[in-house]
Amino acid sequence: MTEYRPLRIALLGAGSVGAQVARLLTENKSELAARVGAELDLVGIAVRDLNSKRAEGVPAELLTTDAETLILGADIVIEVMGGIEPARTYILQALNSGSDVITANKALLATHGTELFDTAEQVGAQLYFEAAVAGAIPIIRPLRESLAGDKVNRIMGIVNGTTNFILDRMDTTGATFADALAEATELGYAEADPTADIEAFDAAQKAAILANLAFHTEVPLDQVYREGITKVSAEQMAAAKRDGYVIKLLAIAERVDADENGEAGVSVRVHPALIERDHPLGAVHGAFNAVFVEAEAAGSLMFYGAGAGGVQTASAVLGDLVSAAKRHVAGGPGLADSVHANLAILPIDRAYTRYQITLEVTDQPGILAKIANVFADHGVSIETVEQSVRQNGGKRRSTATLEVGTHVATDASLSSVVKALAANAAVESITSVIRVEGI
Ligand code: NDP
Ligand code: HSE
Repeated sequence: MTEYRPLRIALLGAGSVGAQVARLLTENKSELAARVGAELDLVGIAVRDLNSKRAEGVPAELLTTDAETLILGADIVIEVMGGIEPARTYILQALNSGSDVITANKALLATHGTELFDTAEQVGAQLYFEAAVAGAIPIIRPLRESLAGDKVNRIMGIVNGTTNFILDRMDTTGATFADALAEATELGYAEADPTADIEAFDAAQKAAILANLAFHTEVPLDQVYREGITKVSAEQMAAAKRDGYVIKLLAIAERVDADENGEAGVSVRVHPALIERDHPLGAVHGAFNAVFVEAEAAGSLMFYGAGAGGVQTASAVLGDLVSAAKRHVAGGPGLADSVHANLAILPIDRAYTRYQITLEVTDQPGILAKIANVFADHGVSIETVEQSVRQNGGKRRSTATLEVGTHVATDASLSSVVKALAANAAVESITSVIRVEGI
């Protein structure tokens, strides 16, 4: 039997995640006590509305609207309320009163992480956040601990389940973006206001958190390049499939060496991209998440699983709770994060990538050479060109569709090529521009 005094656990929130945390804490009480070496006593659950209907397993007698009093009496506080305020204030109160805190709140960490981590360090408390990125998938602890002795060069992840579901439906059924979004809403993946997911705000927050850990560098959210999936068309999806690719919303954080354009640093970006279908990330279907990590000594690692869901996310919260509770029992310092590397965060211009550009041109002698010159003028090397020609309704003039794939170049050079093509008299229209990743 355990000897350490019972630890008082305060839960802030009893929604999708909180209700499952409460249920598992209650159902698995004796097993958790045996693992930790102390009883984990859920002493209260703060909610907004005491009369709301609760999921099965939430002990009604523990509900309260007085979060502040609950926090003051706790050893460990679990914040699964979401939002910025009052979550930020409550976490600061908990840390300042000496409690360790567990949070699933990526929006808060991506915007106020520095303040929260600095406070935790000053008072010698711990802030755990495994659930904040990719739900049930253990990715924070591997970056924070398992890979702490290695050098991470690149992280490429599918970290938003809603957008992966939408893109996967477009890929597998030929649906338009609007139809796939409607299906995601009907099935409960997308929220009534889907902006945070489809405009990639959620993925950008997660990218900032991952990059911060991987590169020991503070990554302000406004320096994460962000492009959502609303402009991905059924035609782009079909063309990608024909060419052996699939379109995914990728969160990419990578080191960029110093070059003629400037100093070394870190590039963090979220945007739709073509990825080969046989790349490990190409096989991530439905609302699943996956994070592909490239480290100098470890090589390539892939973390895959459920990126959301109440009970799945509760698993990550409880993992953090066991760690925090064990630290209480064993004593001693916990993990301290650091941003000692303090690398420069580079703009999207400095990222190295490849583009696939689809354009309509008048099919005349010399046009292909003119198009090729635009790429050459900007120092961009062409890797592939595919041409198809269609007659314009019996007229002598016909239109050619060119699909041009580039070699790797800076995003600045590649976007200059697109601007120059748009202004070139030989080009009738540019129908698709998309980055290619994973090579
Ligand atoms: P929900 O909206 O389902 O639940 C939020 C809970 O917090 C509710 O019980 C609500 O009370 C309570 N709450 C909100 N504001 C206050 C307040 N001011 N005072 C007291 N209680 C309050 O959220 P989720 O469970 O879905 O998400 C929680 C967190 O977990 C978020 O940060 C989210 O980003 C993160 N997360 C969620 C995932 C998921 O799959 N759901 C996946 C990964 C992370 P009441 O019920 O009375 O309204
Ligand atoms: N809305 C998120 C997603 C889940 O679709 O992945 C919580 O991070």
